[in-house]
Amino acid sequence: MNDFVYSYPTKVYFGVGAAAKHLPGELAKVGKTVLLAYGGGSVKRNGVYDEICGILQAAGKTVVDFPGVMPNPTYAKVQEGAALCRERGVDFILAVGGGSVFDCCKVIAAQAMTDKDIWELEYADHGTPTAFLPMGAVVTASGTGAEMNNGAVITNEEKKIKGAVWGASASFAILDPTYTLSLPMKQVISGAFDTLSHCMETYFGMPGADNLSDRMNEAVMVSVIENIRVLLHDNLNLTARSELEWASAMAENGILKIGKVTDFQGHQIEHQLGAYTDCNHGCGLAVIHPALYRHMYREAPARFARFAQVVWGVDPAGRTEEETALAGIDALAAFIKEIGLPTTFTEMGITDESVLRATADTCNLTAGCCKKFDREEIFQLLKECL
Ligand code: NZQ
Ligand code: ZN
Repeated sequence: MNDFVYSYPTKVYFGVGAAAKHLPGELAKVGKTVLLAYGGGSVKRNGVYDEICGILQAAGKTVVDFPGVMPNPTYAKVQEGAALCRERGVDFILAVGGGSVFDCCKVIAAQAMTDKDIWELEYADHGTPTAFLPMGAVVTASGTGAEMNNGAVITNEEKKIKGAVWGASASFAILDPTYTLSLPMKQVISGAFDTLSHCMETYFGMPGADNLSDRMNEAVMVSVIENIRVLLHDNLNLTARSELEWASAMAENGILKIGKVTDFQGHQIEHQLGAYTDCNHGCGLAVIHPALYRHMYREAPARFARFAQVVWGVDPAGRTEEETALAGIDALAAFIKEIGLPTTFTEMGITDESVLRATADTCNLTAGCCKKFDREEIFQLLKECL
């Protein structure tokens, strides 16, 4: 296990009614003017917006409405939010939604506090922001775990990059599983697959020797798989929704990453695909993962064989280690099909090879895993996904 420092800034309030119970106490700690950020309107249709507004009003806050944060949030939207915060003297940001709203707000929180362009600060000067407006997160769509970290994924449309931007951590997160009940089933499943992907990308990071983080990770992966299967025939099952919501947070709250260098090569590829196609994150990951792992498993057969046995229940009897490893990847691919996620880019409407070439040529190459890819091999594996 590598050396590590672990501390966590986000307090989690989990459970039915968590906003009514705990938001007033948190709001009492912050200033009067609150930016209320949300997406394209689901929160207005499912009643969450009215409930949160009622709590803000009762707390005597002045609400600055910031609607319209889009899936795959853009850097232009970040700038719009930061300008609004400055103009209206916002003291606190309350982000209500899924990963897109949280990510947008994390960077707004940083951009509102400096005249320096955050993208330039991070990408050109290799700095990180140090001052933030405080923020809190109310989860209505789980999967990314974005409420539990300070990393944001932002699409810079001008530069054609969907990339990581470091921003604020939420000081608290409200996780009420009933808030996710109105989420369309496709988004529930693609979000849950995103959680599984976060687990896998961490599990296959270095060092590969058995350790506590990976044993906990295996438990999270098995739980995610079981609970997705529950939702396939009982889609409003609150226990399964609750388990998935907490698993999503667990995969990104750092615990599974303790003592490891995480990899996230699959994510780096998917994010750049998103820059060119604006595709759904979980769906892109579902297509990429099996192909990526078929290119990877020979570099770490023991680890992939363990994954096959512990997570997918593959029987190693009569199989070589490599055959067991491959059977695990086949089980992953079969699961993706079973849960109705796309298995090819064509199913997602992505058929243009030049998009795959551009993705391979511009995605980040990571070194946290058993295998370091070059751009040609990434292009090859992307073509296999067509
Ligand atoms: O915009 P509205 O109308 O709210 O609709 C949203 C959106 O269309 C809808 N939705 C959310 N809650 C709902 C609901 N619809 C009905 N009922 C509800 N309760 O769901 C749609 C998708 O929302 P979005 O926030 O985009 O989804 P998700 O949580 O999957 O976030 C995806 C974004 O997070 C990034 C992804 O790249 C992508 O940009 N990620 C962020 C990470 C992080 N910061 O740690 C890690 C991830 O790997 C990921 O990259
Ligand atoms: Zn993800």
